[in-house]
Amino acid sequence: MTPSRQFRTAIVGTGAIAHAHATAIAELADRARVVAAVDVDPHRASAFAEQFGVPTTYAGVEELLANEQLDLVHVCTPPKTHVPIAVAAMQAGVVPLVEKPPALTLVEMDRLAEVSALTGVPSLTVFQHRFGSAAVKLRRLLREGVFGRPLVATCETLWFRDDAYFDVPWRGRWDVEGGGPTMGHGIHQFDLLLSVLGDWDEVTAMAARQSRPTDTEDVSLALVRFADGAVASVINSLVSPREVSRLRIDFEHATVEVEHLYGYRDEHWRVTPVPGHEHVLDRWNDGSPDVESGHTAQLAAIFDALEAGERPEVGLDEARRTMEFVAAIYASAFRGSRVRSGELGPDDPFASRMDGGAVPWAPVKEPVS
Ligand SMILES: NC(=O)c1ccc[n+]([C@@H]2O[C@H](COP(=O)([O-])OP(=O)(O)OC[C@H]3O[C@@H](n4cnc5c(N)ncnc54)[C@H](O)[C@@H]3O)[C@@H](O)[C@H]2O)c1
Repeated sequence: MTPSRQFRTAIVGTGAIAHAHATAIAELADRARVVAAVDVDPHRASAFAEQFGVPTTYAGVEELLANEQLDLVHVCTPPKTHVPIAVAAMQAGVVPLVEKPPALTLVEMDRLAEVSALTGVPSLTVFQHRFGSAAVKLRRLLREGVFGRPLVATCETLWFRDDAYFDVPWRGRWDVEGGGPTMGHGIHQFDLLLSVLGDWDEVTAMAARQSRPTDTEDVSLALVRFADGAVASVINSLVSPREVSRLRIDFEHATVEVEHLYGYRDEHWRVTPVPGHEHVLDRWNDGSPDVESGHTAQLAAIFDALEAGERPEVGLDEARRTMEFVAAIYASAFRGSRVRSGELGPDDPFASRMDGGAVPWAPVKEPVS
């Protein structure tokens, strides 16, 4: 598609992940530019602005929205601030693109949906691994019936974070990060799983704090049944020194698997057909361009949709399904029972706090303001 306009974006929060957003916009320079950067830490904002050639900085999102004409606001702040910033953007008529997790709770997700309905402005979530070419192709070929029915899947996020990683005040805490590797790390890989297998029906889970200085879990495991009958296991860990992100789905006609760490290309995927179904490989190896999963791929898809007057991905309905899956893992783990989709209504403790007030271990961190 020939780009017809240049989008104006601003980055709020100029810490670690903001660099991936600014780099992605630089790679899409013919389609968009970052016109302002915002951080409560002015030194961080100005160093970031200098590094990426951003002309203006602000100390707060209100000042930004009052002074700039924008199409998109990248929300790259700690999780606790996501909803207020996204709400302010929507109320100003600007689309927020919110880093994961988009909110701390299901109640907050419903607040985003309410404001989006009132303003008519979508709120988008960064789930960049939906946008690599192989995942896009997998979903298309599945819809076309090439793989047959999904039967069983495994989804693993086995990562390692040392104790020093949790020195950052917002990490490892229910009230500001919202959860451990389920909410903050494995969410990428099981969001990809959910984007392929669709609606989940029930979850049975365990969570444990094995060795990290956190209030949250450092490991969780879940068994899932999907609405179409497929079953899956999901594991999320921050205590696994040989790190890997892995997804494997066994369909009626083939096994499809990907192994990577923080992003994949086509070469990280493998398709093994059932004997007699080798034609699956011809459909898979179709010579289409190899697009790496990452912020550039998701932003390109967002600009395509905005130019076409369509709703970009990942919208609130899809993000809520993934967030409800997170809440179901915690509710199942801490209650010791199976959780069905739709069961966690607005009055359920796990809808207003991911820990549900039911964590069996004692907190180790002091409260932060
Ligand atoms: N998509 C991914 O792969 C990915 C990877 C890492 C982190 N993340 C997510 O990105 C978010 C930020 O993580 P990070 O590691 O970059 O954090 P960080 O702590 O490195 O940076 C956050 C920045 O936000 C600033 N900030 C805090 N409150 C603010 C406010 N109200 N207004 C403006 N600025 C504010 C801080 O001063 C800091 O500079 C988190 O939600 C995290 O889960 C996503």
